[in-house]
Amino acid sequence: MKLEIAVLSGDGIGPEVTAQAVKALEAIAHSFDHTFTFKDALVGAIAIDKTGNPLPEETLQLCADTDAVLFGAIGDPKYDNDPSAPVRPEQGLLRLRKELGLYANIRPVKAYDTLLEKSPLKRNIIEGTDISIYRELTGGIYFGKKQLNEAGTVASDLCEYSKEEIERITRLAFKAAQKRRNKLTLVDKANVLESSRLWRKVVTEISKEYPDVDLDFLFVDNAAMQMILNPSQFDVILTENMFGDIISDEASVIGGSIGLLASASVGDTCCMFEPIHGSYPQATGKGIANPIAAILSAAMLLEHFDLLEESQAIKNAVEKALELNLTTPDLNSINPLTTEKVGDFIYDYILNPEDSNINF
Ligand code: IPM
Ligand code: MN
Repeated sequence: MKLEIAVLSGDGIGPEVTAQAVKALEAIAHSFDHTFTFKDALVGAIAIDKTGNPLPEETLQLCADTDAVLFGAIGDPKYDNDPSAPVRPEQGLLRLRKELGLYANIRPVKAYDTLLEKSPLKRNIIEGTDISIYRELTGGIYFGKKQLNEAGTVASDLCEYSKEEIERITRLAFKAAQKRRNKLTLVDKANVLESSRLWRKVVTEISKEYPDVDLDFLFVDNAAMQMILNPSQFDVILTENMFGDIISDEASVIGGSIGLLASASVGDTCCMFEPIHGSYPQATGKGIANPIAAILSAAMLLEHFDLLEESQAIKNAVEKALELNLTTPDLNSINPLTTEKVGDFIYDYILNPEDSNINF
């Protein structure tokens, strides 16, 4: 298969981890005889520094023209404590999601058997956890009307959803549940929010098309508690934009490191793959960032194009690295590998699973 991939590595550790994801895809292209072409473009703080715009038109055009986008991370502390900054790196990511119509963000959360002791949660609680979070990505409070009164003393953000916006991601989530353990949990705040009540109504209606899937509902505050009390109860979680943002960071604790969590953002015509972690500025350039989330995002890219064996080859290499403890300091404080060395191992393992660990 021929794929043209836009690479938006962004800020902080973005370039370091994305380089490892590209390397893993190069190994796959080589082993399975595909042609992947990579095209770099600017996004985030680095794009502001160079062009004044967190999402230059050129970048947007490239993303729209290519088959897929591989995204690193964005954010720079110089913007975080300056609420009056005229442009912010995050705007680049949000606009990209909106312009490309990436309405469904899929975030798998898994407790790897080899890492059960690394999680701050007890082994018996997290064992067997395997969740797929479907987070709505182009609506809700993130994109609703924002207002600040003239005196700068009253501010508001509108949380708005239409039936159509809810329907399209709901269908994807039900289809995913059918391929998994046939359970879907809608996380909302329907006891308080009108928008949540619309979610319940629409999701309940659509559930009739998927009679083999069990649907249940949880208020987001209870869901946050259940996530760390009994995470293996969940199969597919469906939720709106901001609840999904929060719940997925919480869920990342289960696996032992946020550096393991990948994501896919899909729409009707475009797709983008990115680790869920941020730009981790304190780690930039130190070679300590975990590249596995970025590498697993590349595996999700392959899966999206139905290259299932190829995607599995990346996952096998990652699982081998975890099993042999060939990991970065977030998971291995005694004898850690650098970001690049973890990427090298995964690259070698994809090319030659038989004897790739000789040098490590
Ligand atoms: C994420 C991030 C983004 C979000 C930020 C960087 C805008 O936290 O992808 O989860 O809130 O969606
Ligand atoms: Mn987030």
